Amino acid sequence: FMLKEIFEGPEAVENSSRGRVMVKEGKAKLGGIESVSQKLEKINRLIITGCGTAYYAGMLGKYMLEEYAGIATEVDNASELRYRQPIFSPDTALLSISQSGETADTLAAIREAKKMGLTTLGITNVVGSTIAREVDAGVYNHIGPEIGVASTKAFISQLIVLLLLALHLGRDRKMSASEGKQIAAEIAVLPSKMRRIFRFKEKIEEIARKYSEYDNFLYMGRKYSFPIALEGALKLKEISYMHAEGYSAGEMKHGPIAMIDENFPSVFIAPRDSVYQKTLGNMEEIKARDGKIIAIATEGDER
Ligand code: BG6
Repeated sequence: FMLKEIFEGPEAVENSSRGRVMVKEGKAKLGGIESVSQKLEKINRLIITGCGTAYYAGMLGKYMLEEYAGIATEVDNASELRYRQPIFSPDTALLSISQSGETADTLAAIREAKKMGLTTLGITNVVGSTIAREVDAGVYNHIGPEIGVASTKAFISQLIVLLLLALHLGRDRKMSASEGKQIAAEIAVLPSKMRRIFRFKEKIEEIARKYSEYDNFLYMGRKYSFPIALEGALKLKEISYMHAEGYSAGEMKHGPIAMIDENFPSVFIAPRDSVYQKTLGNMEEIKARDGKIIAIATEGDER
């Protein structure tokens, strides 16, 4: 099921964004949160919470909501948020992410936030789930059941819904129409770009076979690729039972690099983005210690 659901990724993008992207206006329409739209206009701080892969989606959501909607955002494991004493102010909203809509820690964090009078939102894939019923408003993933325990198509869908939320909130705030149209246009072409990756299926299997004997891996990335590195390391642990640690590429020199040698490979998520040169520098540091590198890079990037 997990492999099948990986290949459903492009379809998940299409299903999650269908009827929600207004390409001409460069806006997103999210019916499920219209009931709280007045409250959301007054929100100046968002707390995103979830567990496992949903939490990593939330980390990416933080970067998107800050960069594209200009909203101060923090992310917390639900299992931490429910026990610490968070300081909530009236202009704070809680955004929970949960594929199943039943994860106990996430549900408990929502109940804590409701007790403190926060507006609670949810992104979930199961209509009528407990979380869907308990939050004030929310957005469904609409990707059909995810059978695999390890989240795959749901993770991709969560990122799309978070991007749509950032677009929706951003256009109500400072985001220009041209920027909104650019994002809307990219969402439309994303599924075909994802399908291009499937052409490398055999290549990916060959790399997996080549690296199947190692016991430890570091997964690294910067900015938007950092939560992806964490998610990649989680998948290696929970699917292949091999030890992997996700780390921000900029931080690995402050300690973890000490473990690197020819027996401790690294995986870098290194697209041509705003932190590409910095990430290349980190890769050089790894190579200087004979560390092997698997790079996930922009097509055609020979470096
Ligand atoms: C964990 C799963 O038990 O729960 C993860 O192994 C999942 O794959 C996490 O991301 C959160 O689940 P949900 O349904 O709240 O997104």
